[in-house]
Amino acid sequence: MDVISIGLLGLGTVGSGVVTIIENHQDKLMHQIGCPVKVKKVLVKDIHKERNVQINKELLTVNPDDILEDSEIDVVIEVMGGIEETKNYLLKALRNKKNVVTANKDLMALHSSQLLTEATANGCDLFYEASVAGGIPILRSLVEGLASDRITKMMGIVNGTTNFILTKMNKFGSPYEEVLKEAQQLGFAEADPAADVEGLDAARKMAILSTLGFSMPIDLSDVKVEGITSITEEDISYGKKLGYTMKLIGIASRNGEKVEVSVQPALLTETHPLAAVNDEYNAVYVYGEAVGETMFYGPGAGSLPTATAVVSDLVGVMKNMRLGVTGNSAVSPQYKKSLKSPSE
Ligand code: NAP
Ligand code: HSE
Repeated sequence: MDVISIGLLGLGTVGSGVVTIIENHQDKLMHQIGCPVKVKKVLVKDIHKERNVQINKELLTVNPDDILEDSEIDVVIEVMGGIEETKNYLLKALRNKKNVVTANKDLMALHSSQLLTEATANGCDLFYEASVAGGIPILRSLVEGLASDRITKMMGIVNGTTNFILTKMNKFGSPYEEVLKEAQQLGFAEADPAADVEGLDAARKMAILSTLGFSMPIDLSDVKVEGITSITEEDISYGKKLGYTMKLIGIASRNGEKVEVSVQPALLTETHPLAAVNDEYNAVYVYGEAVGETMFYGPGAGSLPTATAVVSDLVGVMKNMRLGVTGNSAVSPQYKKSLKSPSE
């Protein structure tokens, strides 16, 4: 291949990071992939909007078919968010034999089965590392690094916005509304931050983590969810006086065929390793029968950390293309068997 052509859906916080990394790390990408990577077209809502990344305005389009129907585009990177419309775009991309990379946990928590089946049917890859815990390569670690182990439990902080809010409230007594606004300005929060503060974003990530960690489909509707909206400044300062730190914690445990997944605020002793995970940082504890305890830690949100996961997925896709293999390392044969057919 002379050049890899990318169609980018979205040029917001994460999309800008993707463009920046592709531009600034071209030498590393060239070394990994063996040819240059070029962004060919970018789907946005508003072509005239001021962008915080340098981009040739001629690349921008409001017509998704400029990307989905372009036979020269090898990989579609989806960083626009949304569910139904976005799912249809990605199904179309896969049917047109384009590999897909997405950061969209809202979509993957609900429709991974359908999308992965479509990818397999079309001999394409569908990678979604950035959908959980931003810059931490946790999905790859679960399905590759810990492939030989039986995972029994996962526990973690998987939402950067709420961790940022709780950290600032705990350390400085900052008011909730003010810190939420700051998280939005920094690009950590979702388009509708209710998904963050009500725990739904963390629940989506726990559903994805459990599906991959336990190699069985876990429904979002099976995740018990409680967010941080009812937590008061008094709760936090009272806990602090007693030596506890408030965190929004996701827990997934497996006992035989029985899996329980939940997200809720919890008071952790200040000496607990998760109590030291601050700001937008995330951490996931994984308990394996053989390995014991491992902990993965890093930035869970934000432009460049998240884009690192997206562009690393792109490298994975390109390596597969180069080897002439398809198949998603995130999908085990056992999990594949449980996928629905595309028509369902
Ligand atoms: P964002 O800043 O709101 O950017 C969304 C981009 O998509 C914008 O460029 C917007 O166009 C475009 N867009 C949205 N809806 C569109 C539509 N219907 N048609 C055409 N273009 C559309 O969002 P983000 O924070 O980058 O997040 C993107 C995705 O990554 C989401 O799925 C999010 O959950 C996920 N994610 C985000 C983070 C993070 O830290 N932000 C981390 C991990 C995963 P305009 O610019 O013209 O408005
Ligand atoms: N809104 C999400 C968070 C972005 O705060 O964790 C990263 O997935």
